[in-house]
Amino acid sequence: MKSSFKKRLREALKGILNEIEIKFLPSGFQQIGTIVILNLKNQLWNRKDVIAEAVQNIVSNCDAVCLNKGAIYSQFRTPQIELVIGESTETIHKEHGTLYKLDVSKIMFAKGNINERKRYPKLVKNEIIFDFFSGVGYFCLNIARLANPKRIYAFEMNPIAYHYLVENIKINKVSDKIKPILGDCKTEALKIKEKADRIIMGLLPSPKDALPTAFQVINPKKSIIHYEGLLNDSDPPEKLLEDVSIIGKEFNKKTKLEHVEFIKSYRPHVNHVCLDILVN
Ligand SMILES: C[S@@+](CC[C@H](N)C(=O)[O-])C[C@H]1O[C@@H](n2cnc3c(N)ncnc32)[C@H](O)[C@@H]1O
Repeated sequence: MKSSFKKRLREALKGILNEIEIKFLPSGFQQIGTIVILNLKNQLWNRKDVIAEAVQNIVSNCDAVCLNKGAIYSQFRTPQIELVIGESTETIHKEHGTLYKLDVSKIMFAKGNINERKRYPKLVKNEIIFDFFSGVGYFCLNIARLANPKRIYAFEMNPIAYHYLVENIKINKVSDKIKPILGDCKTEALKIKEKADRIIMGLLPSPKDALPTAFQVINPKKSIIHYEGLLNDSDPPEKLLEDVSIIGKEFNKKTKLEHVEFIKSYRPHVNHVCLDILVN
């Protein structure tokens, strides 16, 4: 798919772009729902209109073409996206049968985390889950649709992401399973009466600040924390586990590393991982 896209894009723009510009053309693209997101070298930004038009003609099911203009840094994980062709940046992305409605210019969707979204439903039993950083429902929607949790409390502090979380709960017909909560998980989770059998802590670069809350709301018998983070190639997972075990001790909790899931390469020599940690 990638090589034929590259070839077709070069052919479509022959005679429109000069030879150097042709060399800088991207070899692939990302598609979220009906929206294509392109990474263009800076040298091609002033040629974005003709490139976007050619891309729209090549890619099927494409209503809009956007440029990715930079990395995602803010606390709300807002992307830097510019609409080049098309009417709207809102779309519905379908994955594993789950629908994710979102505005790609306001909300990120990490396609690289696809296996993580697929993994959770296989682990979940009839239990109470706290999804601390739920975004538009990246993890909780799949769990509610494909597993049989008792209840999921989904916390999200960005009002835009929360708006889509509420929409997605409706369109996936899982209102009986997920309770969305607008606000900071660090304070909102403390207000819930039920205790969590499983806490999903999916935030980069680190969800460490929410650990004291996690240890206060976790089921004291036996429970699991899914703790995401960044790990250098040369570092053992125990380095990341230390974050959790030190704070756990302050709350009289024992932690044991059950599993390390490699999610994706984050940048050269740094990996995005998830530690599955047993707490009792
Ligand atoms: C983008 S998601 C993480 C992505 C997810 N791990 C994935 O794999 O796609 C992180 C979300 O957490 C939200 N967030 C950050 N800090 C928060 C907090 N203290 N309480 C609740 N939500 C928070 C952000 O607004 C964002 O929507």
